[in-house]
Amino acid sequence: MKASQLEKSAQTESVNNPLNTLFQSLKKDMDQVNALIMENMQSNVPMIPKLAGYLIASGGKRIRPLLTLACTRLYGYDGPRPYTLAAAVEFIHTATLLHDDVVDESLERRGKEAASLVFGNKASVLVGDFLFSRAFQLMVLDRNIEILRILSDASAIIAQGEVLQLSTQNNLDTTFEQYTKMISAKTAALFAAACQIGPIMAEANENDAAAMYDFGLNLGLAFQIVDDVLDYSANAQTLGKSIGDDFREGKITAPVLIALENASEQERAFWQRTLADQHQRDSDLQTAQNILLKHNAFERSLDIARDYAEKAKAALTQTPASAIRTTLHDIAAFTVDRDY
Ligand code: IPE
Ligand code: IPE
Ligand code: MG
Ligand code: MG
Repeated sequence: MKASQLEKSAQTESVNNPLNTLFQSLKKDMDQVNALIMENMQSNVPMIPKLAGYLIASGGKRIRPLLTLACTRLYGYDGPRPYTLAAAVEFIHTATLLHDDVVDESLERRGKEAASLVFGNKASVLVGDFLFSRAFQLMVLDRNIEILRILSDASAIIAQGEVLQLSTQNNLDTTFEQYTKMISAKTAALFAAACQIGPIMAEANENDAAAMYDFGLNLGLAFQIVDDVLDYSANAQTLGKSIGDDFREGKITAPVLIALENASEQERAFWQRTLADQHQRDSDLQTAQNILLKHNAFERSLDIARDYAEKAKAALTQTPASAIRTTLHDIAAFTVDRDY
């Protein structure tokens, strides 16, 4: 695979959105990050670059490394330091995706058959471990103990979030609070860390690092809630993942929690059978979608995501005004409006 292919795959289809604006404005930086990603997925064990390359070449939005770059540039540092760390952040994300698709038994990722189906669960888990380790090697190269602490804490929190999810799965008694705690760990923690390390690299003050942590955390919470809506409502081709994975796995996500709050006896029995007892028939996904629509559960979930996006925007107010700040502001709104 050539670097130019990687760069092309990292771009998204639709041109006019804030994520693409950010990608275009940081294109030179992203080229460096992509080169490091390519370089560091290499190994003399052939299965490693084969499997990692399969997933990495499929693209993905690259939102986390873009955030790291943006939050560093936002505070006026324009040197090369963020490249290794942005690559490390994307490796942590890629490793969790490999593990997550095994755990979730997912069929599709980034518009292609999941790596676990092509190469097997065992190879996926082990290459995921390799990418995690590579992320740590890259982090050490930066030699900043505070950044190393932030990213290693985030890695431990993500792993805990994924384990926490096992205990909420199939459990209709899950509360919104437990759900929020779980998504905060499995998704928002990495967004927060990816943003927080920017001002630290730029040697900005502690308040700036705290503000960027808040920005990332709230953006990440919004991002996962929207992901959970899209799992029921998106066009699979645009999303690049199959629809209904969460339903089939009995995941208790925001739309389901909202529908459960107001469920009739019959609806509760439906959720009990399908999500808790895992007895599903082919037509059940459609029924679930209808119940969710009836309770306005997608719109109401998106309202919650919008509130988090507003908090993310508020965290930006004390940062220096710039074109990048405006784009980050727009990305908060885009996170809620996105369809992929
Ligand atoms: C998927 O993340 C995992 C979640 C936290 C929902 P992304 O939606 O950022 O995945 P890619 O990298 O763009 O494929
Ligand atoms: C994201 O949750 C989990 C990770 C942190 C990798 P999901 O399980 O909803 O992510 P997708 O939908 O498979 O991308
Ligand atoms: Mg998953
Ligand atoms: Mg999902």
